[in-house]
Amino acid sequence: MKKYLVIGNPIEHSLSPKLHNYWFKKNNIIAQYEKRKLSEKDFQNIIDDLRHGKISGINVTVPFKRSIIPFLDDLSSEAKKTKSVNTIYKTENKIRGHNTDIEGFTQSLERIKFKVEGKNSFILGAGGVTASIIHALNSLGASKVVISNRTREKAEELKKLFPKIEILDWGKKPSEFDIVINTTSIGLKDNEEIKLDFSKCENKLFYDLIYNPFETKFLSNAKKLKNKTENGLGMFVYQAQKSFEIWNGFLPKVEEKIFSMLAND
Ligand code: ATR
Repeated sequence: MKKYLVIGNPIEHSLSPKLHNYWFKKNNIIAQYEKRKLSEKDFQNIIDDLRHGKISGINVTVPFKRSIIPFLDDLSSEAKKTKSVNTIYKTENKIRGHNTDIEGFTQSLERIKFKVEGKNSFILGAGGVTASIIHALNSLGASKVVISNRTREKAEELKKLFPKIEILDWGKKPSEFDIVINTTSIGLKDNEEIKLDFSKCENKLFYDLIYNPFETKFLSNAKKLKNKTENGLGMFVYQAQKSFEIWNGFLPKVEEKIFSMLAND
């Protein structure tokens, strides 16, 4: 039986096994997808298992999307540009890393019919996934990408990769934006809140990459102010869909019921 893995630390709450195993069953594929908590000293063994066919594919999640890179033979252009790998597979004896978070984010915007082209975007945070969001926004033709992070140096590192982005001090917001995306971990815990006054904002899109909790304070406050909101579940589902396609050669269907199945987990 083919075996797939998602590796990370922590990993208990990963929804990837549930989604991939659902698609395997639905498509009559005999395979098993598991989660595994690792540390970096285990990387070589896991990659060797992939090389020798004991594992057929790997998803990588927080905090390893960057640190796994030296263990791979080859990177897609997206993985190279963002220095972030979430999907690993074997091609002609090479172990290749790709980043499907970019496509996941892009498809999630498509699903809610939000057009980025010519729009101003504002990103909060400069963590591991932020480069994927910037890459997607640039590819979609955003007219401006402004980023703000508590530790300014990390935003400056991202500016080296994406010179056109603008950096704003933490605690400030741009005078105008069409979409604001939270890529920080603020909101994962109930008592945390982003301390920015969005009270004059309406008819914008507030996007939080967090999906557990399903609705962060960032999103519930935005909703009260008559803004559109989106959590990270769409991005999660579509990044998984692209990983599945890489490993199995076809795109599994994203049915509406998948969202309720995962949201109720
Ligand atoms: P990394 O990928 O760097 O390991 P991450 O969990 O992906 O970390 O990213 C965490 C993000 O949330 C960072 O942008 C972090 O800001 P810093 O770079 O200043 O650490 C941000 N973050 C987490 N907690 C925060 C808080 N209480 N206030 C402001 N920003 C916070």
